[in-house]
Amino acid sequence: MDAMVVRGGRQLNGQVSASGAKNAALPLLFATLLAEGEHVFYNTPRLKDIESTCELLNLFGCETQRDGQVLRVKVKKLKSLEAHYEVVRKMRASILCLGPLIGKFGQAQVSLPGGCAIGTRPIDLHLEGMKSLGAEIQMENGYVVAKAEKLRGTTILFETTTVGGTENVMMAAVLADGITRLENAAKEPEIVDLAQYLNKMGAKISGAGTSIITIEGVSSLKPAEHEIIPDRIETGTLLIAGAITGGGITVTKSRPSHIQSLIEKLRESGFTIHAERDSVTIEKSSAWQAVDLTTAPHPAFPTDLQAQFMALMTQAEGTSVITETIFENRFMHVQELVRLGADITPKTRVAVVRGHRGSLQGAPVMATDLRASACLVLAGLVANGETRVNRIYHLDRGYEQLELKLESLGASIQRTH
Ligand code: UD1
Repeated sequence: MDAMVVRGGRQLNGQVSASGAKNAALPLLFATLLAEGEHVFYNTPRLKDIESTCELLNLFGCETQRDGQVLRVKVKKLKSLEAHYEVVRKMRASILCLGPLIGKFGQAQVSLPGGCAIGTRPIDLHLEGMKSLGAEIQMENGYVVAKAEKLRGTTILFETTTVGGTENVMMAAVLADGITRLENAAKEPEIVDLAQYLNKMGAKISGAGTSIITIEGVSSLKPAEHEIIPDRIETGTLLIAGAITGGGITVTKSRPSHIQSLIEKLRESGFTIHAERDSVTIEKSSAWQAVDLTTAPHPAFPTDLQAQFMALMTQAEGTSVITETIFENRFMHVQELVRLGADITPKTRVAVVRGHRGSLQGAPVMATDLRASACLVLAGLVANGETRVNRIYHLDRGYEQLELKLESLGASIQRTH
């Protein structure tokens, strides 16, 4: 199984570009199911999760064709409305096909998802939303079986802010009769990107990026072209790679306004950051302070950068309290960081990190989920000696050639088979 071998102690410096956002690309690809014809996406990252999505679209009867960062999806008459367990188990976001399939075809069968082991991650809010729009939902042999004559717009109040739930219900509602109002909707940049694409296709969505989204149903949609937004989590991970090694790096083709909460935390910690419209620079630094952190829905600090920021805090001056409010069981990187020599006490949702500069020693570690893998690679950059991060396939689900990007900045990192 592939592993990443990192030799710590090198300062990272230079310029690197961000790739397109995985979490924006996935719902966009599922949105194609809403209109026959050729959809074109630019800045599409090369990732396992994108491959899995294309595999699923192909099983439905679509054709996907990649040329560099350009991905074309040709949607023809679908030959299946069933998302099999074999594909869905690889990627939890496959559930995002449910909304477009019910919205357009009035039926769908989608296996219950697998994905990262970071908590139970239910889909009850997706299903409640579909039911409110008029779909009949049943569970049969591990599958969600959904049917609807015609969806009807209504007001849906999400009890918890859910990114995937907001996206799924939005995609179901675009072809419904009448007006749908989503309350307590997620405000992530990926929601805004999806709404923009749906509007290019002819949908009538307003309010995306705020907690109230209004969708006026239309009778049909057409394919369109779209440039996928830069990956804010990858950008943040690269900035932290610069920070943890004390180096100065610039991430180009990025959107710093999407990671304002991280930039503020880095500044509070003592780093100097320059944010332009589409690039962000962190200056060299020889010491930084511990800061406390609580994850929460956008625009607050993203759970997807919590593990990476924790790696940085192991090298800070002082004690940092990190609180995870989005997912239970998202501290699985803690035990691995401790194996590298970090001084961390975890409770269920709170971890106390006592920073000691130069405290980490290389060791074999096990990646448990996507962002935990990135955290361990970052820790490896400053650990003495060699850190071998096993089960690196998690990393390939969400980071495009991370090792090449880090190497170009001066890291010693290699993939081994
Ligand atoms: C998305 C992101 C993921 C990120 C997460 C939170 C994608 C493909 N993935 O995941 O990287 O970590 O947002 O920013 O975009 N919940 C329910 N019932 C539901 C749905 C969610 O209780 O039906 C709960 C979850 O268990 C979790 C919280 O709501 O505690 C937020 O989850 P959600 O925003 O839905 O995350 P995802 O869309 O799965």
